Formats: sequence, structure tokens, C-alpha cells
Amino acid sequence: MHSSLPTLPRVHLGVDGPLVGSQGLGCMGMSEFYGATDTTEARATLEQALDLGVTLFDTADMYGLGANESLLSPFVKAHRQRVVIATKFGYTRTAERPDDWSLSNRPEHIRHAVDQSLRRLGIDTIDLYYMHRRTPDVPLEDSVGTMAELVKAGKVRALGLCEVSAEELRAAHAIHPIAALQSEWSVFSRQIEQAVAPVASSLGITIVPYAPLGRGLLTGAAFGQRLETDDSRRHFPRFQPENQAANAHLVATLDQLAKARGISTAQLALAWLQTRARQLDVTVVPIPGTRRRARLMENVAAATLVLDEREMAVIAPLAAAVQGVSL
Ligand SMILES: NC(=O)c1ccc[n+]([C@@H]2O[C@H](COP(=O)([O-])OP(=O)(O)OC[C@H]3O[C@@H](n4cnc5c(N)ncnc54)[C@H](OP(=O)(O)O)[C@@H]3O)[C@@H](O)[C@H]2O)c1
Repeated sequence: MHSSLPTLPRVHLGVDGPLVGSQGLGCMGMSEFYGATDTTEARATLEQALDLGVTLFDTADMYGLGANESLLSPFVKAHRQRVVIATKFGYTRTAERPDDWSLSNRPEHIRHAVDQSLRRLGIDTIDLYYMHRRTPDVPLEDSVGTMAELVKAGKVRALGLCEVSAEELRAAHAIHPIAALQSEWSVFSRQIEQAVAPVASSLGITIVPYAPLGRGLLTGAAFGQRLETDDSRRHFPRFQPENQAANAHLVATLDQLAKARGISTAQLALAWLQTRARQLDVTVVPIPGTRRRARLMENVAAATLVLDEREMAVIAPLAAAVQGVSL
């Protein structure tokens, strides 16, 4: 543990699920979507995260078409007792059809997908298994019911869902306890606060906010101008030139607040999330994504920062002014 950092608090996923550091690590960008990847640096980043008290590591079967799970495998195996590994099923894209974003919640797909993830990760049990997206053609009784069978079979320890509605969350939880809900939540994406967060709070479900840094947008007004040519975000609405300037203008407000506090804009965004979660009485474990060690200490240090009322009031209207839908 680094002595210069406050200890990362530990929280349960769900009422009695795995105990994890209150900030996790999003590993997606280590294999795909966000520009150049570097396996050596990625592995060093995983090790350093654990050293800093981060224990929840987030991947999915579709990140890098399985490559992200394979990348994490030696790390997870080496620290099996300390690492809480979360992965997801749902997307059916393959190496032959990488741009086919079809989904399946069918029981036979779930049973096949979990075995593939376990094989790539090289472990016997996945700590947290998420449905990456719900498809309404399969009743929750069948999809969550199949996930519950995986718990009984010892293949999975705890269950999670991504981006479901308040009603779906409640219904799924009645079928089998849901430990974690992973949905987008940040200064710029606050839809979850209306109906879903109150239900999660009342049921004791931990929210795992993904893209807490707005996919990089919330790390500084200049961020979008630095994207590499093979970066998927170049195609995302919020990063389009017609929206870029207006959104950068909003981020400049965050830059100013952060400067006045002597912290980075990314830290301000992460502190906002923790403060907002406290206001809503919901437990959160945000999973900022990074491919490099240099960012880790900065992000982890923000997990225990609390913003004051004036800062929260300045930030509150920004989400409504963002240009472009989130992708
Ligand atoms: N369930 C879902 O549908 C879903 C969807 C999207 C993502 N996710 C998960 O959520 C995780 C996080 O989301 P995300 O990666 O899309 O977005 P994010 O965490 O909001 O932002 C990641 C971006 O911010 C940069 N960054 C991180 N820390 C920084 C810092 N301190 N200063 C400056 N830049 C910083 C990263 O660049 P560097 O790598 O260069 O540091 C990367 O470009 C993913 O890794 C994935 O595991 C889930």
C-alpha cells in the first residue's frame, strides 16, 4: 500500500456480496476501442491497482473479442484471493463479424458464454457475472434464472445487470439477489438518478458506475482533440466536431473548479460521483478505465474526496447542457 494515499474504503457488492475497494478498475481500453494498447503497461497497471487497494477489476467477454479476459488471466490467477473479477455476457460479436453488435440473453448462450469466460480467465468461479444488455425477447425468469443456476453450479459467485430499468432491476432481484448494477453515471450522464438509483438504494444493490469520466471527456476541456485515429470515440456523438466545442466549454467549468481546489479535473469528476451517491444514499464502486499506471494514483486519491454544496451546485446544471447522446 502506498503510504501517501488514504486507505480505499471497502464496501460490499450488494447486501452480502464480495467486499471490494470503493473504486474499481475498468480494463476495457487495455484491449480495444480507445486507441493503442500496450500489454506490458496494462499488466503493470493491474498490479499497481491492487497495490493501491483496488480489488474490483471489470472486463467482458466481448472486449477485444476475448482478448481482455485472456490479458487479465495471469493477474487474476496470481492474486486469486484478493482480486474480485467481474465479466459479462450478452454481445455475440465474433472475430469473423466484429461489427455485428447482436445480443443474446438465451439460456443456451449464457451457458456457453460462461464456460468460454472461465476458460479464458483460467479460473473456476467468476466473482461477479453481468448480463451486458437485456434483450426483451427472453423473459427475466429465463435469463436471470439461468444466471442463478450458474451460482448454484459454483461457476459464478454473485450476479449483476447492466443498464436495466428500475422495473427490470426489481423483477430480476426477486428471481435471484442482484449484487451490482453497472450503468453509465457521471457528471454528464445522470439518467440513472431518476428511477434506478432509488430502487438500487432500497434493495441494497451496489451501483458500479461505468464511464465515470465520460469516456475521457471529463478529464479536461482539451481531451477530445487528442484522440488517436483508431479510437472508436471519434464516431461517438459527444466527440463530434459540432458538439465538441460546446462540451469542452462545459468541461472548462470543471477545470476551473478543480484548479481552485488543487485537484485534477478527473479527480473532480470522480469526487462528484461519490458525493452524489452519498446524497442519494446509494453505495457506488465507480470503475474509471485506464491503460496506464500514471493515472491510477490520481484516480484512487479521488475516491475519498467530498465536494461541498457550492461545487455541487455549479456542476448540477451541466448534464442538461451536454451536446450529443452518450454512446
Ligand atoms: N457495461 C457497459 O456497457 C460498459 C460500457 C462502457 C464501459 N464499461 C466499463 O467501464 C470502464 C470505464 O469506462 P470507460 O473506460 O469507457 O470510460 P471512463 O472511465 O469514463 O474514461 C476512460 C478514459 O479516461 C482516460 N483517463 C482515465 N483516468 C484519467 C486521468 N486521471 N486523467 C486523464 N485521463 C484519464 C483514459 O485514458 P488512458 O487509458 O489513456 O488513461 C480513457 O481514455 C471500462 O473500462 C469498462 O470496463 C462498461
